[in-house]
Amino acid sequence: MELYDRIHYPLLTHSYTHPDRLAVVGRLMGLMPADAASCSVLELGCGSGVNIIAMAELLPGSRFVGIDYSQGQIEAGKAIASRVGVTNVELQAADVLDLPDAFGRFDYIIAHGFYSWVPNPVRQKAMRLIKHSLAPRGIAFVSFNAYPGWHQFGALREMMLYRTRDIADPAEKVLAARAFVAMVAETQSDDDPFGLLVREYSSSLHGRGPMPEAQFVSTLIHDELAEINQPFYISQFIEHVNSEGLDFLAEADLEGSTPVGMSEDVLNVLNAIATSRLDMEQYMDFMRNRLFRKALLCHADAPVSRTLSAGAAALSGLYVGSAAGPQDDEAALGGVNFVAPDGLAYSTDQPLLQSAFQHLAAVRPDVVLFEDLLAHATAAAGPSEGAADALAAALLRNYLHGRSLVHFHTFRPPIVTSVSERPRTTAFARFTAGVDIDDTTNVRHERITLTTEMRALLPFLDGEHDFTAILEGAKSALVEPVTEVEVRHELQWLARTAMLLG
Ligand SMILES: C[S@@+](CC[C@H](N)C(=O)[O-])C[C@H]1O[C@@H](n2cnc3c(N)ncnc32)[C@H](O)[C@@H]1O
Repeated sequence: MELYDRIHYPLLTHSYTHPDRLAVVGRLMGLMPADAASCSVLELGCGSGVNIIAMAELLPGSRFVGIDYSQGQIEAGKAIASRVGVTNVELQAADVLDLPDAFGRFDYIIAHGFYSWVPNPVRQKAMRLIKHSLAPRGIAFVSFNAYPGWHQFGALREMMLYRTRDIADPAEKVLAARAFVAMVAETQSDDDPFGLLVREYSSSLHGRGPMPEAQFVSTLIHDELAEINQPFYISQFIEHVNSEGLDFLAEADLEGSTPVGMSEDVLNVLNAIATSRLDMEQYMDFMRNRLFRKALLCHADAPVSRTLSAGAAALSGLYVGSAAGPQDDEAALGGVNFVAPDGLAYSTDQPLLQSAFQHLAAVRPDVVLFEDLLAHATAAAGPSEGAADALAAALLRNYLHGRSLVHFHTFRPPIVTSVSERPRTTAFARFTAGVDIDDTTNVRHERITLTTEMRALLPFLDGEHDFTAILEGAKSALVEPVTEVEVRHELQWLARTAMLLG
């Protein structure tokens, strides 16, 4: 029996694989891919398919197909899909090796946690399938473990594999690996670079905190301790991509494909030594010691513009959001400082940009059409020549700094920002409340850590229960007493984290 049938991969969703995220990068690069709201998506090695099940619930006009050779995971996924009530997801138990190269026509193809973890013939097959099944303006997402960063992790993986080579039971294997790494960590001196690495890794194994044991066992067994876990340099990967008539479009987090944060001196050297755009990607991975790649691919002959246009036309029709809010800060020197929960900050003394970011803060976690944001900002700050381009340039700069400052969307996710009479979250979130996993997924397909309070409340957020019923439900589900104020507070927090759609 396959290991994945015995130990299912955890039920994880991956925000950066969402067609909306891929469509935004495509749009910014001049490739006009299909709208996320009416597209077709194929996921290879989908596990139980929860990633596409969660997407499918909120994109009823799109079609999703998931392939995995683990029959057990596919059966589990079908049960989840029917519980969530989605009918636009088709899950198939099949080996990618047995699929025809032309397996249909998909606007988006996802292979997450796949390429590094399968034998070479499967990698070759997956790339051929992407070439022959991707729509002309389609985008494929392929992640893999990357060198040079993975060289260090390779040392940790190999010591764990050696230590556990005679242990068959997965749970025992994981415990032995963890204990051994902890012992190695303790014996290293404080200032030794290897000591630093192994201690940090060891505490990540212990510090997975509330991670349920089953999820911890599954990720370690299937990721670090997997029989095949082959990292690649981005240059090797791109060679493979090019050999199939495909091209590397960009890193899914677009800032990873741009030299954000590098000094001009460093950039000058890199520009002088890099022989091509793709060569530059490799140099950036050396500079960043990157250990994981989330690569986006397109057809080699797809109409793509390699220079990002910072003008207003590039953002026309896109929705804009920000997690940042204004903060009093002397460092802003007469300007306004906007700070996101992850600490990223943007400071501006320009009235146009201040009012735009004030507006984005006011509508959080909702988003606003670029044209409406521009109208709002110019109404507040007064019209000025070049306002549209100035706003677009500032938004794009911040987007490339990190998505918490600015995120773009090709459609408006159905988020509500205030708590209604009978609040509603997604059926997928209600399902996750009762499952032994760490995270649920919000309306924007981002992971949100499941707290005890959330587990108690989410099942009642189906648009049928009013506040009194929700409060009673929470009281009976929680061991600790809970007050009306606390439940109201929790509901408001859910609205702020984009968990509510009604
Ligand atoms: C590391 S898991 C990743 C699961 C999911 N994509 C994720 O990232 O959460 C790899 C998945 O690929 C599947 N897989 C491996 N080889 C395969 C093959 N040849 N054909 C189909 N699925 C395969 C496994 O069953 C497993 O579910």
